[in-house]
Amino acid sequence: MIISEGNRTATETRQSPFHPLDPLTAEEIVEATRILTSERALGTRVRFETIVLKEPDKADVLGYKAGSPFDRRAFVVVLDNDDKVTYEAIVSLDQGRVIDWKRLQGVQPRIMLDEFLECEAVVKADPDFRAALRKRGITDPDLVMVEPWSAGNFGYAEEEGRRLVLTRNFLRAGPNDNGYARPIEGLGVFVDLNAMEVMRIDDYGVVPLAPNDGNYASEFVGEFRQDLKPLEITQPQGPSFTVDGYGVTWQKWHLRVGFTPREGLVIHTVGYEDQGRIRPILYRAALSDMVVPYGEPGKDHYRKNAFDAGEYGIGSLTNSLTLGCDCLGEIYYFDANLNDGKGGAVTIPNAVCMHEEDYGILWKHTDWRNGNVEVRRSRRLVISSIATVGNYEYGFFWYFYQDGTIQHEVKLTGIINTAGIEEGETPKYGTLVAPGLNAHIHQHFFSFRLDMSVDGESNTVYEVNTLAEPPGPDNPHGNAFYAEATPLKTEIEAQRVVDPLSGRYWVVTNPSAKNALGSPVGYKLMPGENILPFAQPNSSIIKRAGFMAKHLWVTPYAPDETAATGAYPNQHRGGAGLPEYTRNDRNVEDTDVVVWYTLGYHHVPRPEDWPISPVAYCGFSLKPVGFFDTNPVLDVPPSVHSNAASHGCHCNHG
Ligand code: NI
Repeated sequence: MIISEGNRTATETRQSPFHPLDPLTAEEIVEATRILTSERALGTRVRFETIVLKEPDKADVLGYKAGSPFDRRAFVVVLDNDDKVTYEAIVSLDQGRVIDWKRLQGVQPRIMLDEFLECEAVVKADPDFRAALRKRGITDPDLVMVEPWSAGNFGYAEEEGRRLVLTRNFLRAGPNDNGYARPIEGLGVFVDLNAMEVMRIDDYGVVPLAPNDGNYASEFVGEFRQDLKPLEITQPQGPSFTVDGYGVTWQKWHLRVGFTPREGLVIHTVGYEDQGRIRPILYRAALSDMVVPYGEPGKDHYRKNAFDAGEYGIGSLTNSLTLGCDCLGEIYYFDANLNDGKGGAVTIPNAVCMHEEDYGILWKHTDWRNGNVEVRRSRRLVISSIATVGNYEYGFFWYFYQDGTIQHEVKLTGIINTAGIEEGETPKYGTLVAPGLNAHIHQHFFSFRLDMSVDGESNTVYEVNTLAEPPGPDNPHGNAFYAEATPLKTEIEAQRVVDPLSGRYWVVTNPSAKNALGSPVGYKLMPGENILPFAQPNSSIIKRAGFMAKHLWVTPYAPDETAATGAYPNQHRGGAGLPEYTRNDRNVEDTDVVVWYTLGYHHVPRPEDWPISPVAYCGFSLKPVGFFDTNPVLDVPPSVHSNAASHGCHCNHG
């Protein structure tokens, strides 16, 4: 395991992990490949899509006692480009053998980084592609950026069973130029990734290249504003958290950090210490998939739908973060150990950033009669990672607050996806963000899988709506309103959408754990800004990303039901994932429940999003509701200001 601290990276000598949920080490990844390739006759054109920890059974994890032995298993997905078959394996690292081996036909694993690079080279070398470039006055193919997108699934016979991408192409003026400023409009190349050859080029006709540069790098910005003074975050006694391997404790919180190539950052076994006891809240939380449907129907733009986790492996596209830039203050970094296409190990140093932030006031009251003031400052623990998926950046930020609140915020930035447009035309399905540059309207939908365990595994989810009492004897003055909780007993009952006008939220309760007031303890899921998709119900994208149609889904825990879009969404015809999981309308009352929250972010591009978008934010939070008997943060001490050590800023009068 490699752990880095501050901006320094230290390689630990310890070869073995020390908790069942620790991600595979680089050595374990290489060992899994060695065992698999020695036991199975794999072809020469095999690619390793995934080598990841096969998480142990939940019961084994929950029953685990520090220091006891545990099994290490790797889950491996390989694609054979020659026979077009996908294999799933479970490799026991302890026993040194393959303990499960499945042959899957008709699925397409994620598109791997090696495939992107090979595909770009194949397209650039293609004589017909070069001829299409020359038609547009482009003579140097080395300045062209070829971006392969999954071709999706639109039921075309000639695409059936082929591993296909459709490239979107852009022209740079030089190696450091922002290529997205000059989309090569109307030219699409279909590449079969198994054969690694061009299948077809669609040329919809020449549209002139956008005239202006779109450069934002510091070397291109003439003059910087001059009035920004340094802002330093210092913690002279160090941070308040402690880290043990992948385990973290901070301000009564206990949790573990994990990482996978598909989901990126994973948070495991979250609990809060209350009266000497660690009370569980969440067993596992992660992004399960996401999709970005675009709204332009013309040419081949209707195919623009990016499943950034399921099709591209957002975890494997994670950035290595930089102190003082991505993260400010006393930072602890976790590295991510992932696999490459050949089954080797790749380490992303500083993939996950953890630090504390001041978050304004936690609570305050001034007793105006006697002048007494009590105020406490709030702090939050931030655990985050950022991935670059082609043009876009996504930051995934988990926040833990002292009062028991958990928040997730997605930060969207990077470069909007651009298309060319004839001069003088006004786009209907997009925004003109620069001359000749059309940014299509789109949405970003994220599905977060939250395996809840509020004071234990047996939970029930309620929907709470606030209702106005109708006028009548119970409401003679017309002022009455009340909150009403309704249990969501089955999977279909539990498919819900937001309703801000009824103050709607959902509470995960534990019917057999009561607070001091006699009510079941609970945690509520508070939606934030959200939206539904605009695509038609029978469209390819709604079939393939059915999770978008509901903001809340609840399923009974099943270890293999981990992805809102199913295990292999790339080119899938649809119906997999949540719609399939919930088809039998299973019971979700007083059982081990998994809550899935769909977060939709609506993006009508603005000129201000060009050439790079300032961060946009969206998210949700989980808040204790009767989980504690009373305000859990009375014991947060008053702050002591370092500049006035003798005089705390708890501001007691006198
Ligand atoms: Ni966007």
